[in-house]
Amino acid sequence: MVKLIGPKKVKTAVFISGTGSNLENLIKFSLKKKSPIEVNLIISNNSKAEGLRYAKIYKIKKRIYNNNRKTSEKSTLKDLQINNIKLICLAGFMKILSKNFIKKFRGKILNIHPSLLPKYKGLKTHERVIKNKEKYSGCTVHLVSPKLDSGKIILQKKVKLSKQETSLSLKKKILKHEHKLYPKAISKLFANF
Ligand code: GRF
Repeated sequence: MVKLIGPKKVKTAVFISGTGSNLENLIKFSLKKKSPIEVNLIISNNSKAEGLRYAKIYKIKKRIYNNNRKTSEKSTLKDLQINNIKLICLAGFMKILSKNFIKKFRGKILNIHPSLLPKYKGLKTHERVIKNKEKYSGCTVHLVSPKLDSGKIILQKKVKLSKQETSLSLKKKILKHEHKLYPKAISKLFANF
């Protein structure tokens, strides 16, 4: 029997620094037939990142680069080339990429941010949202541009805060939505290819 092989999936690298719940979610998504991506490489700037365990669990290559930015990016670019990576998904990656690096992958780097961008760029998002008594927050998947948390928005999800909301409960609530939003945004990005 001839096995029909569908169109090739886009080779993807996921960059992490911490827990990696978005990483695992993207790996699970990539294993679905309908997913346009496959996760081939995990890059981290933190050797202690919990999310690195998914490399072993799902048998995916991992690389840790925690030198200065120039050296780390040089090594990273080499890995991306060797592995024929065409898409980068930042998922809780805490290092700011250089303009030069972003230029080399222009339009091919996605990030997920836990706020309704352009509101609450940067760190400590949930704390600031709670402090400002916002009624809504959410999450955003956007293309990465040289300006922090400012590239073209692909998809956004608005989330209502409860009266007793804390930054921790909000973080957990939004993370659940992030896990739906990131795969959706990737599918949207490749819908016309
Ligand atoms: C997420 O909230 C993401 O939006 C932000 O960093 C967090 C990473 O969480 N950029 P995890 O490591 O994917 O669990």
